[in-house]
Amino acid sequence: MPHITVKPFDTSIIEKKSYINTKVIFKSKDLLSQDELIGVEVKGSKFLLYIKKSEKNWLFKYDKVTRPLDVNLVKEAIDNISSKLNLEIINSNIAINQTKTKLANSFEKRIEDFSDIKFPFSRVSIEVGFGSGKHLLYQAEKNPNELFIGIEIHTPSAQQVLRQIELKSLKNIWVINYDARLLLEIIPSNSIHKIFVHFPVPWDKKPQRRVISPSFLNESIRVLEQGGRLELRTDSYKYFWYSLETFLGENVLKTSLEVRKNESLDITSKYEARWLRQDKDIYDVFVTSLEESKERVFDFDFTFNSIKYKDTLLDKISKKPMVFDSFFIHFERFYRVDKSTILLKLAFGSFNRSEHKYIIIDNKKSYYFGQNPVKTLTNYKTHLKIEEYLNV
Ligand SMILES: C[S@@+](CC[C@H](N)C(=O)[O-])C[C@H]1O[C@@H](n2cnc3c(N)ncnc32)[C@H](O)[C@@H]1O
Repeated sequence: MPHITVKPFDTSIIEKKSYINTKVIFKSKDLLSQDELIGVEVKGSKFLLYIKKSEKNWLFKYDKVTRPLDVNLVKEAIDNISSKLNLEIINSNIAINQTKTKLANSFEKRIEDFSDIKFPFSRVSIEVGFGSGKHLLYQAEKNPNELFIGIEIHTPSAQQVLRQIELKSLKNIWVINYDARLLLEIIPSNSIHKIFVHFPVPWDKKPQRRVISPSFLNESIRVLEQGGRLELRTDSYKYFWYSLETFLGENVLKTSLEVRKNESLDITSKYEARWLRQDKDIYDVFVTSLEESKERVFDFDFTFNSIKYKDTLLDKISKKPMVFDSFFIHFERFYRVDKSTILLKLAFGSFNRSEHKYIIIDNKKSYYFGQNPVKTLTNYKTHLKIEEYLNV
């Protein structure tokens, strides 16, 4: 991931202004270390850059929570600022490689894009955790008049598939770099033809991280059209039985189930190829949704109406995670922007599908820096609690 190592410099030379294509919106200092975070905007994308200080050299790099999928934007920001300020560079990996295909940006979707979504094709399918993207690309090539939404939590995989989309000139894939368990909650009801979950990580030791769960199943049934289906494919016997039990759970709505063993598909993913070489059994479970689901209203508003900066605010904020009935809030890091503005980094939301965000608080207004949280009911309840908690 893009970074440079520079000789220490006086950071007061970084001003709130444009450096070539990069606009510096604010600078902030970590209250527990010497590190700094810089809020920037490049080509409409807002994110943070991180200056990690040590005695001899400093790391100038991206911030994991707010980084854009297009890695070139981060490279550009670091390059624009460091070259304009004549920083002494010791090491760099930000050379923008002109020969590399550029990322197919128009196919990258963000959370905001889903707030009033219109699909460009009438048939839409989703692949959760597409990894190398072999199956996603195959489906899109085979069905050019259908839309395939790939949701992948691992950023380099999402970036790699965006490049493949560009190379293959595909027009019917959207890629979103997010936790699919959260994203599914903002997809309209009865709108999806198929949901593919191929070779999910079994997480035997941390089952709360599994993709398949009762709530994921409920959301899948809700977003699937009547007759649409969720297709799980796994090499893990344990995960197969766990999923089957989940699919047959007490509160599951009207569905039909189909189980297959060792069926070969037209396309073999990287993971599948590995298991096949080891002669492992492969299991498919298909869950078909048999009923129309109710529409979901997403009128959650994530603006802060009442939080304003006060000198007493920082002392009041708990440094430990706060647990409420169905969610938690953990203020993890605190940054000072100026005497009446702070930046807070927090983790929050449901226990097994938490989000990380930054909040800017000044004496006039407060807002999430970068993207708002996903519009789920739990996130909304958490947001209201954050507002109540910080409104001192
Ligand atoms: C074992 S790999 C399988 C990849 C691909 N489906 C295949 O068959 O080759 C599991 C993939 O799921 C992704 N993943 C895990 N949890 C996820 C989540 N909650 N949301 C989206 N992707 C997830 C991982 O990053 C990884 O790429």
